[in-house]
Order: sequence, then C-alpha cells, then structure tokens
Amino acid sequence: MARARADGKAGKMASYIINGPAKNFGGSVKISGSKNAALPIMAAAMLSGGRCVLKNLPHLSDTGAMAEIMTSLGCSVERKDSALEITADITKPRRKCGYELFSRLRASVLIMAPLLARFGRAKIPMPGGCKIGARPIDLHLKGFSAMGAKIRQGHGMIDASAPDGLSGCRIYLDFPSVGATENLMTAACLAKGTTVITNAANEPEIADLAEFLNKMGARVSGAGSDTVTIEGVSALRGCEHKIIPDRIEAGTFLVCAAGLGAGIRLEDARPPHLKSLLAKLSEMGADCEAGADFIELRPSGRPKTADIKTMPYPGFPTDLQAQATALLATCEGSGMVVETIFENRFSHIPELRRMGAGIKTEGNAAFINGVRHLSGAEVSATDLRAGAALVTAALKAGGKSVIHNIEHIERGYENFTEKLRALGADIERTD
Ligand code: EPZ
Repeated sequence: MARARADGKAGKMASYIINGPAKNFGGSVKISGSKNAALPIMAAAMLSGGRCVLKNLPHLSDTGAMAEIMTSLGCSVERKDSALEITADITKPRRKCGYELFSRLRASVLIMAPLLARFGRAKIPMPGGCKIGARPIDLHLKGFSAMGAKIRQGHGMIDASAPDGLSGCRIYLDFPSVGATENLMTAACLAKGTTVITNAANEPEIADLAEFLNKMGARVSGAGSDTVTIEGVSALRGCEHKIIPDRIEAGTFLVCAAGLGAGIRLEDARPPHLKSLLAKLSEMGADCEAGADFIELRPSGRPKTADIKTMPYPGFPTDLQAQATALLATCEGSGMVVETIFENRFSHIPELRRMGAGIKTEGNAAFINGVRHLSGAEVSATDLRAGAALVTAALKAGGKSVIHNIEHIERGYENFTEKLRALGADIERTD
C-alpha cells in the first residue's frame, strides 16, 4: 500500500512488527551521537573551506539528507565509518537549493547561516511545518535582518542577502528557540564586530555547536546559558570534533525499560543532559544510578504515575514527551502531561488509544488513567518521537503490534531494531 514517506517521496513505507510484552528485556546499549547536535554542526562546517572531521556522527536519514543538501551545494561530504568528513572548499554555492531536498528535514534552515555569513546570500525553500506544529522561522529571520541581511520572501522561497557581510548586534529571542540560537550563533562567527544573543536556548546541543565553532577558530562564549556572545572573526579553519551522545535516544531507552520494569545500562550516555527525566523516573519509583558516562536503571515493579510539563532545557524535553506519555499509560494512577513547546504534539495519543490506553486530551494537556495492560494493535507513526512512543508501548503490550510509517522513526534512531533486539525485544522490520 503506497503511503507518503517520511522523506516526502511517494512509495511504500516500511513497518515494524513487535510481539510483546518483551519478557526478558534488559542488558546494555551504546548510545549513538546526537542527531540534534550533528545537524547544526554539519551546516556550520560550511563556514570554512578547511576539512572538518565529525566523529560519532550517527547514520540517520536526517544526517543523510543534510549531507545531500551540502553535496548539492558543492561540498565534499564523505562518510568514513562513524565519522563524516566535510570540505566546503568552494568560492560560492553550486546552485540554488531544491525544494524536494530541503523539505525532507526542518533543520535544512540551518544552512542559511554559512550561506549568508560566508557567501553573502542564502536563497532556500521555505521550510514546511510538520505534524508537531507550524514551526515558523520568524526568529531566525528577525535575527538575520538585525545583523544587516535583506530578507525577501515569495514563491515559496526565502532570499536573504548581505553582500557586504553581516554586522554584530544585540539580539533578544522572543522564545529560546534552539534553531534560531544555532543559526544566529553560527552566522555571527563571521560577522563584523560582536553579537550578543539574549534569551538564547541552552540545550546541550548548543554548547556542542559552540565547542565545534571555537575549534574552527571562532570566539563564542556563554553557550549553554541564556546569553551567548560571539566576537566575529575574518575566517575559520577546518577541525576535528566528536559529537555528544544523543540524550533523547538515551531517554527513549530508559522509558522503554521503565515501562517494562526492566533493568538497562546505557553506555556513552551523559547523565547531566538527562537530569529532568532521571528526576521524574525516580519520582515514579525507578532506581537509577548515574556515572560519568553511563546510566543504569535497575529492575523495579510497576511505576507510579506522575505529572509532566515540557519546558525549554533544562526542563523536561518536548522530544521525550510522547515516549513519557506511553510510559504513563500503564503506570499506577492518573497522570497529566502538558506540552508547552509545540502546539500539535499529541498525534501519538489516538494511536496509543488503539492499544487500550486511557488518555483524554484538552488543548495542550493530556490526562492519562494508567491501565494494567495495553494490547498489541496496528498503528501508524506520524512523526519521529510519536513513532518512538508507539515502540515504547508495543514492547509492553500483549500480542502483536504493527507500526506503519517507521521511516519517521529512522530519521532519529540509529540501528534502532538491532539495538532493541539485542536488548531482548521481538521486533522485525518489513519493507
Ligand atoms: C529543535 O527544533 C529540535 N530539532 C527539535 O527536535 C526539538 O523538539 C526543538 O528544538 C525544541 O527542543 C533539531 O534540533 C534538529 P525551536 P527547532 O526553534 O529548532 C517556535 C526531534 O524530535 N519558534 O526551539 O525547530 C516553534 O514553533 C526534533 O528531534 C517560533 O515561533 O525548535 C516552537 O513552538 C523535533 N519561531 C518553539 O519555538 C521561530 O523562528 C520551539 O522551536 C523558531 C521557533
């Protein structure tokens, strides 16, 4: 049956078949590099003509799409095992960016920074919204125009130009937008003078991007706080950088195990990046131990329910909201989830109801009456984290679940079925 694929191309979508509950789930799993750190860092590598070697860069459809965009612009992008080598030794981008390629991922908007800052012109298709919300880019464009860019919009394109370069300035973000902070911080590295971004996002991926930029010779300070200062420099060089572990992948595995009352050990994890989830899991009765680069969840009984409200970092991450909702669906008691970041991030809930979850929604709040058991069902992934929530539920549901449109999931989880199978899940992928 032909379905709209996650990459926008028509064609049959693949499915996962999961037989639950996964009785002997547990063991250890190595966390991959962070998708949401890799994407802005890949784009930022275009700020220089030098060779950038990005280690621990996950094999995902999103990083693949970003590599395709950069290749289409004339960069050399070479995958070498878990590293990616990028050389943007170009005098100007090869051609304008195609809609099909750009519409595959939201993070394509991050290409604006190097195009504008290094080449003086960024003409890209307007990034579309997606299931989780309108996802405008007004804060990005407001920041670029404050830095002196002329912005024109029309025919589905955004055309930003700064032929005489960008100038440093003070920028206040009306919302601590992750993407806007990344785009403006990256562009400011080559601006004349100093840029100060206040009310900046402080997610760990921003600090990782700043570390990469400084290795290129940039002068970024304050990343990881709500005020980032960037002193512009005239040129940047290539460098080597290891991408931080993916805190959302790590959180997803923790939630899968907690829902089964199983133990799990995450290797190459960064506990400080998951403080809010670890606190919530402990509140629910889980027994977690965190070391320098591992997190261990010990087997426990049925978790108690909790209330969760998503907030900008270091609050509870919106990217774990769907998975946590699937966890609460079988907890003891009634819980509530409030989604404050995106206006439409409950598309997993009707699918969880098909599996027997007792969830009602009212605006951006979901009220969850925990049930003892979910039952396997045929469901569809509508976006990346909604899909991860369905996997979380299917692992503990009784019987067979078929999850359609799993290309959404594979945008953000490297070797997902292999890792789950190694942990004891009965899962297979069918094309
Ligand atoms: C990043 O998206 C992540 N993506 C998202 O992860 C994550 O959910 C989000 O940050 C919030 O943490 C990547 O890093 C590639 P935002 P981004 O700009 O940058 C509004 C996943 O599952 N907004 O912080 O697009 C926006 O509509 C993905 O891995 C404006 O209004 O998020 C949203 O309501 C999903 N105007 C809120 O801010 C703007 O100009 C947060 O968006 C920009 C954003």
